[in-house]
Amino acid sequence: TRVFVPRDVAALALGAEAVAAALADHADVVRTGSRGLFWLEPMIEVETPAGRIAYGPVEAADVPELLAGGLLEGRAQRLRLGVPAEIPFLARQTRLTFSRCGIVDPLSLEDYRAHGGLGGLDKAREIGPAATIEAVLASGLRGRGGAGFPTGIKWKTVAEAKGAAKYIVCNADEGDSGTYADRMLMEGDPFGLIEGMVIAGFAIGAKQGYVYTRSEYPHAIATFDKALAIARQAGLLGPDFDIEQRVGAGAYICGEETSLLESLEGKRGQVRAKPPLPAHKGLFGAPTIINNLITLTSVPVILRDGAEAYQAIGMGRSRGTMPIQLAGNIRYGGLFEAGFGVTLGELVNDIGGGTRSGRPVRAVQVGGPLGAYFPPSLFDTPFDYEAFAAKDGLIGHGGIVVFDDTVDMAHQARFAMEFCAAESCGKCTPCRIGSVRGMETVDKILAGRNVDANLELLRDLCETLKFGSLCALGGFIPYPVLSAMNHFPEDFRRSQPLAA
Ligand code: NAI
Ligand code: SF4
Repeated sequence: TRVFVPRDVAALALGAEAVAAALADHADVVRTGSRGLFWLEPMIEVETPAGRIAYGPVEAADVPELLAGGLLEGRAQRLRLGVPAEIPFLARQTRLTFSRCGIVDPLSLEDYRAHGGLGGLDKAREIGPAATIEAVLASGLRGRGGAGFPTGIKWKTVAEAKGAAKYIVCNADEGDSGTYADRMLMEGDPFGLIEGMVIAGFAIGAKQGYVYTRSEYPHAIATFDKALAIARQAGLLGPDFDIEQRVGAGAYICGEETSLLESLEGKRGQVRAKPPLPAHKGLFGAPTIINNLITLTSVPVILRDGAEAYQAIGMGRSRGTMPIQLAGNIRYGGLFEAGFGVTLGELVNDIGGGTRSGRPVRAVQVGGPLGAYFPPSLFDTPFDYEAFAAKDGLIGHGGIVVFDDTVDMAHQARFAMEFCAAESCGKCTPCRIGSVRGMETVDKILAGRNVDANLELLRDLCETLKFGSLCALGGFIPYPVLSAMNHFPEDFRRSQPLAA
């Protein structure tokens, strides 16, 4: 009997290795990625004549009892979750980029092919580079790193740019708080990224691709390196197009595209002024497609199933699906891939089950450390680039971090400034110095010193950061600060006023 046990780092942290060891003498253990239901990890699946049956969360100590109860036939009752696809959290999703994650052996190219892999590349080769770019354009796919720029236009720009060499760069420097979608795919379905990059290379005539992975992801790095070797051996990569993985050194700013390129070139990760855009002058001065990992892994699906099918999902100008990551103080945390349009309230309360602490939800930060804090009164906001922008927020890379009513929003505002000060690349003054002054100003407010004047000063400083910064770090840090001030003003007036 085959039993599937995840090797995703979230499952490992919860004891998956010991579960696999306890099962090893009794079954053929296959290691997979995670399905993304983290509160049920380690979630194992048993292959039965009636299909896979899931159990979770399983501890190594549960294994003897489960075996005695008929685990290997899928009959054991304790911890039985049933058919995975029927678990409500999975049944409600539209899994396109995550269709194989948690199901296949991440390092089996045969498994990848058997589950729809390489169909996109076949299609691209059949229709040719120009039609491939047209398909990406027609799908409505937008950059999943956060900015939402139309991917087809970026590809077309690079295809039309003059250059002896061109490059494909994958941004896997997933630095946003509460996000882990890139990591899960690198650990659970790495060939999807390889296929997406091969298609991109074919579309624009590039011979070399780079994946820039954050050093905090050792398991993803190891799995992806193995996948590259397998792809090379199978001829999927080679002289026509090859991929190299490079590992960052732990700087948030290296997720900004121009810093990332500097870092890839072996220099200190500092932001470059735009223009020139990377599409015109990117890596080593050559025209470069730089896309987020989720953007690239969406491409094979678009090619395989057709641009119309992808474009039919979503709302407004946000087409297709978004892998939304539920994190923080949430009962059912995990990966939820859905078409754009699902509301924030559905995600947090319905799907996520509210807070893990059982206390009321007070605030939700969407889009990482540069994203706004939303109060429950804004929970009718649909997950869509424009709808979030209209409420002074952003969806970013799809991370949602939930806080209960014990959170102090003035401290969160201070944390935003502190984060900016720690991660600033130092190139421009508003961010380098403004973030430190911002921290000091919040401290004065927290101490009750000249609260009105300091609140005004803080707003003024946010304006300067927003309009005077070179990149999104300094430019977007006002979002968490101002949203905390606007939606939770009482938290900034908690201390007894002091004499000036
Ligand atoms: P941006 O709006 O400057 O650019 C978006 C992309 O479109 C870039 O790749 C840019 O080169 C390209 N582009 C713009 N105009 C173009 C044109 N005419 N032709 C071809 N390409 C063009 O935004 P930026 O600074 O790259 O990203 C900001 C976003 O990053 C924020 O929205 C934030 O949500 C997100 N972010 C994501 C993080 C993560 O961990 N994924 C971390 C921090 C921020
Ligand atoms: Fe560097 Fe901050 Fe300026 Fe961005 S805003 S270029 S991180 S100093």
